[in-house]
Amino acid sequence: MLKITGLHAYYGSVEALKGIDINIAAGAITCLIGSNGAGKTTLLKSVSGMIKRTGSIVFNGHDELIKENPTRIAHKAIVHVPEGRHIFPGLTVEENLEVGTIAWHGFFGRKPYEVEMRSVFDLFPRLEERRKQLGWSLSGGEQQMLAIGRALMARPRLLMLDEPSMGLAPVIISDLFKKIVEINKSVGIPILLVEQNARLALEISDFAYVIDQGRVTISGPGKDLRTDPRVQEAYLGRFARKD
Ligand SMILES: Nc1ncnc2c1ncn2[C@@H]1O[C@H](COP(=O)(O)OP(=O)(O)O)[C@@H](O)[C@H]1O
Ligand SMILES: [Mg+2]
Repeated sequence: MLKITGLHAYYGSVEALKGIDINIAAGAITCLIGSNGAGKTTLLKSVSGMIKRTGSIVFNGHDELIKENPTRIAHKAIVHVPEGRHIFPGLTVEENLEVGTIAWHGFFGRKPYEVEMRSVFDLFPRLEERRKQLGWSLSGGEQQMLAIGRALMARPRLLMLDEPSMGLAPVIISDLFKKIVEINKSVGIPILLVEQNARLALEISDFAYVIDQGRVTISGPGKDLRTDPRVQEAYLGRFARKD
């Protein structure tokens, strides 16, 4: 459903992506792992149009995104949850969720988004309990739920998550990853997941790519990469499980 070929991306004269080929299958969880500075965030920015890039990014078989701007790409329901969450601290949980509907509903008028909000609250009951609280008062885990909930309000056809586990405690991360699987399995939303936590990411991914210095170095089904000695050595640490 998303086919990236020969993708290069640039910060000024610095080339951060050096010819990347990636395929995202409909209904699957695809993950990108790799060290800090490898180019994972840059790849998500390339898809959502936030950086100068060349090559080809084809959505749903015929829709070339490479010349499109971020607004037009957002209107195609390609939704990017950036690194560091970026919820609105001065808005309530409900208001933050409402912002997610702008891409399909616009700014004004009565918004018929009860169905979307209900399903976000069913997925994250904690957000319903806190619906009138301001964004800043939420814990880190709740803010990440809110950032993902806001993305779901946009009725995504592709959901891109950049380091959702960043700064969260292990028990919170494990709950959050279960929710990510639930989003993918129950509604079938394809997910492109970027993670430093390679072990967890590979566990829930159908297919995975290792990015190193702006290039794809290894790719394959998540379960194969978990047992790949090159991946274990470089990204899973020396005590990696061998199963
Ligand atoms: N705003 C920027 N300006 C210049 N260089 C950047 C900028 N953001 C990232 N880079 C560089 O691009 C490369 C890839 O960064 P990034 O995509 O953020 O990596 P990752 O998400 O894998 O940690 C790095 O070498 C980084 O230094
Ligand atoms: Mg990053």
